[in-house]
Parts: sequence; C-alpha cells; structure tokens
Amino acid sequence: MEQLMRNFFLFLSKNKFFTALAKRYGLRFGAGRFVAGNMIEEAVDSIKKLNEKGFAVTVDHLGEFVNHIDEANAMADECIHAIEGIAKHKLNSQLSLKMTSMGLDISDELVLKNMRRILDVAKKYDMFVTIDMEDEPRCQKTLDILRELRKDYDNVGTVIQAYLYRAEQDVRDLNEFKPNLRLVKGAYKEPAEVAFPEKADVDENFKKIISIHMLNGNYTAVATHDDQIIDWTKQFVKDNNIPNDQFEFQMLYGIRVEKQEELLRDGYKMRVYVPYGKDWYGYFMRRLAERPANVLFVLKGVFKG
Ligand code: FDA
Repeated sequence: MEQLMRNFFLFLSKNKFFTALAKRYGLRFGAGRFVAGNMIEEAVDSIKKLNEKGFAVTVDHLGEFVNHIDEANAMADECIHAIEGIAKHKLNSQLSLKMTSMGLDISDELVLKNMRRILDVAKKYDMFVTIDMEDEPRCQKTLDILRELRKDYDNVGTVIQAYLYRAEQDVRDLNEFKPNLRLVKGAYKEPAEVAFPEKADVDENFKKIISIHMLNGNYTAVATHDDQIIDWTKQFVKDNNIPNDQFEFQMLYGIRVEKQEELLRDGYKMRVYVPYGKDWYGYFMRRLAERPANVLFVLKGVFKG
C-alpha cells in the first residue's frame, strides 16, 4: 500500500497541468509546512530565525519543467535576487538550484550562461551553490555541466543519489575536483535498470559513498532524516578521526525539526534546506511520496480551505 501511494505521488509530481495550476493559486493544502513562502522576503525571515538558533541554511527558489528561454532567464534572475537578499541581510545561507529551471531541457549554452551569471554574483559574496540532482535521465548532463563550470568556479558542487548504481563511480570520478558534495538517498521514481529497488541496498550504498567521499578528505554533506544513517555517520567519523569541520548534516525545512535541534545541541553542523517560490507543487508531492503519513496534513489543509 505504501509503495502504491509513493508511486502515485511521484506520478503526480510530474503532472504539468497541476504544476501550472498550483503556481497560479499559491501555497495550499499544508504545503506551507515544507515551503517557506512565495517570495524571497518571506524566506529571509525563516532563514533569519534558523540562523539565530544556530542552523546554517541553503535556500532554494523552487522551479522545474522550464521550457522557455525567458522563463529560464527569469529563474536565474530570481536566484541572483536571492543571493543579494542573503548578502544584504548578512545571513548564513548557501544557494541550491535545479538545472532544469536554468534551461537544461532547452540548451546547454543557456544553462551555462545562466549558471555563470549566478556563480559570478555568488563568488562576489563568497557563497557556495549546490546543483540539486534531478531524475536519472538528466544525471549525466548535470555532471557534464558541473565539470565545465568547475574549470572556472570552485564555489559550485552537486548532489549524488545513493539509489543509483552509478553513484559510487560518480563519487570516485568527481574526486579530481575535491568537491563539496551533498549525498542523499534519491527522491525520484527510477527503474530497476538504473537504481536499487530495495531500501536496504540504497542504505548500504549510501554508507559506502559517504565513507569514500569522507576518506578522500572531501567536505561531505550527509542529507538525510534517517536515524540509522545519522547514527552510522556519527560512529564512522569517530572511528576514522574525521574532524567536525569536514562534514555536516542536512535536512529539509519542516521535517524532523526536533532531530535537527538535537544534532545542533550535540555540536554537529546542521544545515536546513529552505525552499521558497510559487512552483511548490512537484517538491511538495515528492515530500508526500517519501512519507505518505504527511497526507494527513494535506487533508487538514483541504478542510481548512
Ligand atoms: P527515509 O526516506 O528513509 O526517511 C527516514 C525518516 O525520516 C522517515 O522514517 C521519517 O521519519 C522521516 N522523513 C523522511 N522524509 C520525510 C518527509 N517527507 N516528511 C516527514 N518525515 C520524513 N533528492 C534528490 O533526488 N535530489 C536532491 O538534490 C535532493 N536534495 C536534498 C537535500 C536535502 C537537504 C535533503 C535532506 C534531501 C534531499 N533530497 C534530494 C531528498 C532525498 O533524496 C530523500 O528523498 C529524502 O531525504 C528522504 O530520505 P531520507 O534519507 O530522509 O530517509
């Protein structure tokens, strides 16, 4: 049943009609629990509160399925606006973004142009930018673009998804750049030809890529809400003398907040991924897919109107 619901929400997450509809009507159905608002000004308030408590942040202007050049350029403008807002308020925040929102499905030239514009401004403010990883058919292209960008910028990294069979090789190949990588389980619906179907295999691969990247001496963001992976990481860094400033935990805004506070209290660096923007639908559906119990929040939202 849980797997059925997961597939259902992942199917919905790619529906372009609902994506467009959601953009018009703004945050609904309890999505405000996972999304910090429609505008950067609202996100800035949330980031301020998180920073005051001691959390680092990475802010993400939500957006996917961008098929027009003007839209991709506008998304890049918004990212620059976000960087400037963060700098103006002297906030402790990085930036995350998706390649499809920069025009990945339109042309490589467009993505590179938009990314260079963003990275130039980010560099000026000494800000790190993480390229989120999307579905598997876009993985190679995303890594190719990262490689191209790394020739000129050291303030950019990406995400490796443990559910992909290719994850281990990608972590090994990227080592030449000594990159700061975010490691995750993976949030999309992928076929067994490219991804481990069993959770136990994903978890094992997750631990494997964490250990390879850390032992290579690279900065590692372990992005998970899973106690088992968190506890394993704590033990691993202890056993291998990995210093606390070589890694951080990351979690999503509004998910397992008490655990986020606990890790902070225990002296770990904890970064919260804060999404904002009108294009909240796909992100919200993937959060529901991860935990169908969240549907209860949706139902409450529906009845609140
Ligand atoms: P798992 O799904 O096993 O969850 C462990 C426990 O955490 C659950 O039992 C539940 O208690 C809690 N939990 C998990 N998800 C929840 C939810 N939605 N609501 C409430 N509780 C929940 N993926 C991707 O493909 N590309 C990317 O770029 C990113 N980026 C990213 C950044 C950050 C900061 C995080 C934390 C995650 C991502 N992800 C991602 C998502 C990631 O791939 C994965 O889908 C989720 O983190 C869920 O997997 P967990 O490792 O948390 O474990």
